[in-house]
Amino acid sequence: MRLQDCHNFHDFRELARRRLPGPIFNYIDGAADDEVTHRKNTSSFENVDLVPSILNGVRDIDLSVTVLGQKLDLPIYCSPTALQRLFHHQGERAVAAAAAKFGTMFGVSSLGTVSLEDLRKKHDNPQVYQFYFHKDRGLNRAMMQRAKEAGVNVMMLTVDSITGGNRERDLRTGFSIPFKLTLGGMIQFAIKPAWGLNYVCHERFRLPQLEEHIDMGGGALSIGRYFTEMLDPTMNWDDVAEMVQEWGGEYCLKGVISAEDAATAASIGCTGVVLSNHGGRQLDGSRTAFDQLGEVLDTAGDKLDVLMDGGVQRGTHVLKALSMGAKAVGIGRGYLYPLAAAGQPGVERALELMKAEIERDMRLMGASSVSELSRNNLR
Ligand code: FNR
Ligand code: LAC
Repeated sequence: MRLQDCHNFHDFRELARRRLPGPIFNYIDGAADDEVTHRKNTSSFENVDLVPSILNGVRDIDLSVTVLGQKLDLPIYCSPTALQRLFHHQGERAVAAAAAKFGTMFGVSSLGTVSLEDLRKKHDNPQVYQFYFHKDRGLNRAMMQRAKEAGVNVMMLTVDSITGGNRERDLRTGFSIPFKLTLGGMIQFAIKPAWGLNYVCHERFRLPQLEEHIDMGGGALSIGRYFTEMLDPTMNWDDVAEMVQEWGGEYCLKGVISAEDAATAASIGCTGVVLSNHGGRQLDGSRTAFDQLGEVLDTAGDKLDVLMDGGVQRGTHVLKALSMGAKAVGIGRGYLYPLAAAGQPGVERALELMKAEIERDMRLMGASSVSELSRNNLR
């Protein structure tokens, strides 16, 4: 199986599964508890149908949107995700470059493996910095200052991770950073020598957003331990209001589900919210972002930009979210499997296919621009 054989999400996932050691694949692929929310993220799109409009004389299609003050050529963006150089040695560099090529926004995670400054210097498409609220307030301030100096366009505070989700696949394999694996996990690494060779032949694994601030001590830091030990579970609206003021620019919360919370976010000065359940990786049983869109938009849609992510695998999923009123749609695994499968050409192919699907589907819907989509197109 090669990159040219990948025509959709499932093909990329399969190619990634073949290339990656089991513990890494399962870290990406897995979710919390019984993974019910993870599955529902995609199936919730299937519970709503599109109602096309005909004979509208659609010639050119304009896919651009303006969200959080940024003009994007596509209504999708690459949501911030951790540890990308573990998945492919090009990591964040590949994702940022592919996003730049398609004129869209990309996120850099606090747990990213390339520095936000390096990426900012290389590309000028909109960059989001995703950060977590640490117990150490000085660290939070320093991270924000650093992002400001680097020229980050949008701050995105993840609010659904004040403790680690119960990722049972990771417990079984022993996945942590740096690696400390169970025996079974080690065997899974041993049977993917191509990945191992590639990994050791490229730059040393680092977490440049955090390493100045946190003593990794060479010990193993599991994602669960990072969340539990470093992040501040007492974070509240007052803390965030202070940060929003301090940042003084585009600021959004990622991981909002309730309409009331979206309204509160607007009242403390946030310019956007990303409806998200973190790809089902945190609270299993959580409602999906897509199912919450209507309620949130009706409550707070006139006060801030409402974005969403979770489960997006098809152009029609994007169209459904946009028709509902989302300003833009985030992709996670939808670019991570392509990254793992083939690096930058993989991410580019995934974005190209998505773009072609959205364009074709817009045509079939009778819409020549995103603003022509509305709830009239949904049942
Ligand atoms: C994530 N996500 C995430 N979110 C965040 O705010 N900070 C992070 O560091 C990460 N890291 C991360 C790693 C991996 C492997 C995955 C799969 C996801 C969540 C991500 O930004 C997004 O919300 C979901 O991935 C969206 O769901 P889909 O598109 O993967 O279904
Ligand atoms: C995850 C974290 C890092 O979902 O956000 O794995």
